Amino acid sequence: MNGPKGPNTRLAHLGNRPHDFHGFVNPPVVRASTVLFPDAETLTARRQKYTYGTQGTPTTDALADAVNDLEGSAGTIFVPSGLAAVTVPLLAFLSAGDHLLIVDSVYGPTRRFANAMLTRFGVEVDYYDAEIGAGIAAKLKPNTKVVFTESPGSNTFELQDIDAVAAVAHKAGAIVMMDNTWATPLYFRPLDHGVDISIHAATKYPAGHSDILFGMVSANAACWPRLKDTQTNLGTCVSSDEAYQVLRGLRTMGVRLDRHRDSALALAAWLETQPQVDRVLHPGLPSHPQHDLFRRDFAGSSGIFSFVLKGGGAAEAALFLNALTIFGLGFSWGGYESLAVPVNLDDRTLPQAYAGPVIRLQIGLEDVADLRADLEAGFSALG
Ligand SMILES: Cc1ncc(COP(=O)(O)O)c(C=O)c1O
Repeated sequence: MNGPKGPNTRLAHLGNRPHDFHGFVNPPVVRASTVLFPDAETLTARRQKYTYGTQGTPTTDALADAVNDLEGSAGTIFVPSGLAAVTVPLLAFLSAGDHLLIVDSVYGPTRRFANAMLTRFGVEVDYYDAEIGAGIAAKLKPNTKVVFTESPGSNTFELQDIDAVAAVAHKAGAIVMMDNTWATPLYFRPLDHGVDISIHAATKYPAGHSDILFGMVSANAACWPRLKDTQTNLGTCVSSDEAYQVLRGLRTMGVRLDRHRDSALALAAWLETQPQVDRVLHPGLPSHPQHDLFRRDFAGSSGIFSFVLKGGGAAEAALFLNALTIFGLGFSWGGYESLAVPVNLDDRTLPQAYAGPVIRLQIGLEDVADLRADLEAGFSALG
């Protein structure tokens, strides 16, 4: 494509090379373990583009081209889940004796992996406040190798000043990773803000239909060789079938995401007016304490946020949730259907103060009026 193009134009065409595949618009799904070589010399030198299924296929390459364009990255690996997209780069860049700093509002299973496994391998793990910014300097140690960020944070949606954290971390010789699943590269491009490794649970918006588990890790040029080697060493590869489905999902991700954004913002603003609601935790709302940072860094907000009930506890949250009929009760997000879950903050290191139970909503592609009526039924159940 000549010259810069809008995001939806790019999403419609990225990764496709029809004339490499007899003119067919989409790349073929190449299922592969074995790849044949024409002769012994070529095999011994591995002198051809594809060598074995674990090392990529034309299908995974089509997706990688698309993702590298969106992320501005030197290379991207694909792994079997969003959680693996967190664990594989941490394994790539940490060794025994290293120190890892993780934002306290991190996705729970990232914390579980760090606490249960990285510590077993001799990695020291500490947590920091999402709002720390350049203050991360006080947390860095001579052996800090990785600063792990996620913005906004899982469930409570605090933002991080990624530019400030990255500048200080780099000065101290640490690399910066970011779980950017919430924003997707359409609304925030981590590598443009100093992040070295951008992580996505493509299970969410890229796949978009609640039927695929998939992770993507994109690296800048300095980090790419080590990330790629780790993938080769671990063998955490994906099937071409799923890579194809994610590429298919990318074609519509822009329009889906805009719809998720608009519906979520409309419902978040409405929730703020409800008498049973204490606070809505959504960085795209002017009431969010870091809304200025949101406006500085993000091109948009996606479809997941939380709200806090005025008082009560788990029983009240259950009353509300059990009255919902359109919102499903289930984990994950980024699919076409709306979901609600009660938030558990017991694993946080830093103290949390909320007036009542926190409920997380994933706003799907349904009609806003119907979703609002469903939430009204939840409030009615509270009496
Ligand atoms: C922020 C974030 N990162 C990573 C993941 C993990 O993705 P997956 O469910 O594909 O393992 C999730 C899943 O909910 C998530 O919310």
